[in-house]
Amino acid sequence: MAVSAFKMLGFLVGFSLMVGLVNSAKFDELFQPSWAQDHLAYEGELLRLKLDSYSGAGFQSKSKYMFGKVTVQIKLVEGDSAGTVTAFYMSSEGTNHNEFDFEFLGNTTGEPYLVQTNVYVNGVGNREQRLSLWFDPTKDFHSYSIFWNQRHVVFLVDDTPIRLHTNMENKGIPFPRDQAMGVYSSIWNADDWATQGGRVKTDWSHAPFVASYKGFEINACECPASIAADDNSKKCSSSGEKRYWWDEPTLSALNVHQSHQLLWVRANHMIYDYCSDTARFPATPLECLHHHHQ
Ligand SMILES: *[C@@H]1O[C@H](CO)[C@@H](O)[C@H](O)[C@H]1NC(C)=O
Repeated sequence: MAVSAFKMLGFLVGFSLMVGLVNSAKFDELFQPSWAQDHLAYEGELLRLKLDSYSGAGFQSKSKYMFGKVTVQIKLVEGDSAGTVTAFYMSSEGTNHNEFDFEFLGNTTGEPYLVQTNVYVNGVGNREQRLSLWFDPTKDFHSYSIFWNQRHVVFLVDDTPIRLHTNMENKGIPFPRDQAMGVYSSIWNADDWATQGGRVKTDWSHAPFVASYKGFEINACECPASIAADDNSKKCSSSGEKRYWWDEPTLSALNVHQSHQLLWVRANHMIYDYCSDTARFPATPLECLHHHHQ
């Protein structure tokens, strides 16, 4: 008993020292306002971002990260949210940046929000997918996560995978795995495109538009700005004794249950997939040819 408790403690201490995990739920330990501090309110566990005709608002992580899982719980703008976009994403910096995006496209009262996801690799995006949700995201908090390892990027809603971006470097397709990324969120006016193709404009008489957040979790490899990019890459890769949890073999592909969930989402909630937009991409993007969407 005592021995196993002691071993367990040793394991936990060793584990967290070894892999330098960050895992916390306090907004201001992990994040800071990045835009319009007066449109951002943090009370207790709850953060609110406000959009009105003067300004939107946003926040960003204090650190940059590689791999792991980032989660926030969001309750989207209630009632009329037409013209507004609330985004939650990870991004690196520079012209060849990588980016993993959730964009929540608002709608008129009673009409459904859409979730647009996108993946940028080496500065190039154009990989939009749009989904409806299987619940009303304005009524309750739901968790939205990005899981990232050397094998894939997975977008999850309440731990259900909604998108899989697989590493196909073996087919000559670049995969984002050597740039540290910050975690960001913001709300802004995008009524030129967001709602029903831009036909419905933001009705400012319904402002302020408020998105609420809680449950901030970053379980990833932290990359201090003071350390060179190559060294961060090395630091954040499993090797020898150093095994990061996201590099465990069971996480190198979706499990059977998750594969079924993803199929279900795609069959029942997919509204748009760049992979099947032949008008926009007469030549099917390479990664779509190889994708099995298992
Ligand atoms: C808004 O509602 C309309 C009508 O139900 C729907 O066609 C559209 O996909 C919804 N979402 C957005 C972002 O326009």
